[in-house]
Amino acid sequence: MEKLVITGGKRLEGTIEISGAKNAALPLMCTPLLTEDPVILTNLPRLADITTLTDLLNHLGVTVTIAGGDGSGSGGRSLTFDASTIADTVAPYDIVRKMRASILVLGPLVARMGEATVSMPGGCAIGNRPIDLHLKALEALGAIIEMEDGYVRATAPDGLKGGAVRFPFVSVGATENILMTATLAKGTTVIENAAREPEITDLANCLISMGARITGAGSETITVEGVEKLHGTTHAVMPDRVEAGSYAVAALMTRGDLLLKNARLADMQAPLDVLAEAGAVISEEAGINGEPGGVRVKSNGHLKGFNIVTQPFPAFPTDMQAQFMALASVADGASVITEAIFENRFMHVPELCRLGADITVTGSSATIRGVPSLKGAQVMATDLRASMSLALAGLVADGDTVINRLYHLDRGYERLEDKLRAVGAQIERVND
Ligand code: EPZ
Repeated sequence: MEKLVITGGKRLEGTIEISGAKNAALPLMCTPLLTEDPVILTNLPRLADITTLTDLLNHLGVTVTIAGGDGSGSGGRSLTFDASTIADTVAPYDIVRKMRASILVLGPLVARMGEATVSMPGGCAIGNRPIDLHLKALEALGAIIEMEDGYVRATAPDGLKGGAVRFPFVSVGATENILMTATLAKGTTVIENAAREPEITDLANCLISMGARITGAGSETITVEGVEKLHGTTHAVMPDRVEAGSYAVAALMTRGDLLLKNARLADMQAPLDVLAEAGAVISEEAGINGEPGGVRVKSNGHLKGFNIVTQPFPAFPTDMQAQFMALASVADGASVITEAIFENRFMHVPELCRLGADITVTGSSATIRGVPSLKGAQVMATDLRASMSLALAGLVADGDTVINRLYHLDRGYERLEDKLRAVGAQIERVND
């Protein structure tokens, strides 16, 4: 079993290259299903979730090949997705169960083929993660939804028609699913209470470059004029704001100074505002001689407690909640963190407490009383962002912290130990 061993106490200083965003790449990888032309995606991160979705696309008949260098010099991978023929419209349980974002093939398959059968994704560690909003939105465009043996079957024998979709609350995945689907529906679709995350805008930009007619992406109302066909494109995946935010926390926790290359300030305003309040000096650095710039995070020597409530973009993102809890564990004073998006996203709490953190949970709020230091121990990763929270705590804990179940971490953080070691961390991946 692979483990991460981190010896705490090292100050981090230097440059970390931020990879392409997992949560942008996954929906982007479904856009090729909407066209017979090849789609090239560049700056793809090398992550387990990308491999899982590639396996699903292969199963559906999409050929995925390494694209030639796109010359952009970005560290990510370039892949060509060719969905000229769809061999199967069934997404099987054994693939979907590994990654619930597989549900994002549902809408594009119905739009392209008039039918799709996708295994219910099931819940995951952080919540039961229903897909009712995805299904209701597809029905608003004329799809017929049936559930059978744990599978969702969506059909549109007479094709899809544009319609009015109003989400009762914000859903990133449901917004992405219906946005892709609406591009090929006949007529106009208006999506109200749409998610405003940067990943939605990135997806819309890719679809527009494929010939889709979309206005309002990034706002709460998105309008789509359906078209007959979409054509191929080449699109670069946006940088990962959650990876960048996680390393920004590492800079502050270790009283360090990190340049997060490729990171975009506008994607991270809410978490960076909290970091500044806690003791970070944040600046946007322009690139020099053609190199991309980034966001610089430097400690001002202090680390004060703060309060957070997770909400949809542009408010504080739930995907940064666990990482900020590690920060709060060693801040001066108390912090209160409220998780308002998922019903069970505090599984990092007992593991942080094993490292000596002082955290009490009441309902959806955690009160964290900062302690002078944490002590390294064996800990268990439970979900993707919780595992990053433990790695961050390990960076400042006295002695060694050993993190088990690394597969959680590898779903969302590319080459974590290489990137941290390059800026001074004492960290290694061991097999035992
Ligand atoms: C996306 O998940 C992200 N995943 C999540 O990141 C992120 O935490 C989440 O958005 C919120 O920002 C990807 O983009 C691949 P939602 P998604 O639909 O789309 C409920 C990570 O760590 N809901 O916005 O599944 C849902 O249960 C992952 O990178 C319904 O009730 O999130 C949740 O409570 C974790 N019915 C809330 O809405 C539905 O049909 C928000 O979920 C859909 C969602």
